[in-house]
Amino acid sequence: MTEAGHRPPHLAVVLVGSNAASETYVNAKIKACSAIGYESSLLHFPPEISQTMLLHTIDELNENEDIDGFIVQLPLPAHIDENSVINRVLPAKDVDGFHPINVGKMALGLDAFISATPGGIVELLRRYEIETSGKHCVVLGRSNIVGGPMSILMRRNTYPGNSTVTIAHSRTQNLKEVCLSADILIAAIGKPEFVTADMVKEGAVVVDVGINRIDADNEKGYKLVGDVAFDEVAEKCSYITPVPGGVGPMTIAYLLNNTMIAARKRM
Ligand code: GUN
Repeated sequence: MTEAGHRPPHLAVVLVGSNAASETYVNAKIKACSAIGYESSLLHFPPEISQTMLLHTIDELNENEDIDGFIVQLPLPAHIDENSVINRVLPAKDVDGFHPINVGKMALGLDAFISATPGGIVELLRRYEIETSGKHCVVLGRSNIVGGPMSILMRRNTYPGNSTVTIAHSRTQNLKEVCLSADILIAAIGKPEFVTADMVKEGAVVVDVGINRIDADNEKGYKLVGDVAFDEVAEKCSYITPVPGGVGPMTIAYLLNNTMIAARKRM
């Protein structure tokens, strides 16, 4: 792009407040931009920023011709309505794929920005040539960011997809039996080491979306673990993603992929 006289893709990231995990994710996204030659901007606001001010910032990013795509890191402080924020982002710049237009198009199988975590997981399954057609895929968790879109993508009539999908969550009865019947288990419930070996079928493919901080006797005072008890489950399954280092980097890669798509569309 730059050889053809265009500027590189430009991603903007909006961060409100000082949630430690959000700061880590946002820094990783900005660092990834510079590693591959993208431009990036970090707009960091204090937690007291008003909703009106935040929406005004989004309007400016929507109109700014120098920015191809942007994200507002979630969660937001309690006084800000997340849906109002998500709805304000121009769908063409919504590289997080959170706007209802993008979610709706994705669900219909139309061209859309697919949100980065589910998009990255689908790409991971593709690159590792995991058989998904006709398989039972259990998605643990029903959030708008991961579980919801993940379940839609896995039942799409394409590869990766064509799975028989079950969405399990905190109210699911016989959760252990449901998980045990999964050929592909995607854990996104945000509970540290929730999935244990007795819940996993021999030879299953396990994707761990969790990033949980638990107390540890080290310099930081915490360590990161997934939603899956890695060591015991790894002995039983055929594939498993580590935490950290599995889904997290794929999420960032997919965000950059979406940003490239946004930039090309604007060329
Ligand atoms: N919070 C947790 N995951 C994400 C993400 O993928 N995008 C944004 N904007 N916020 C998040």
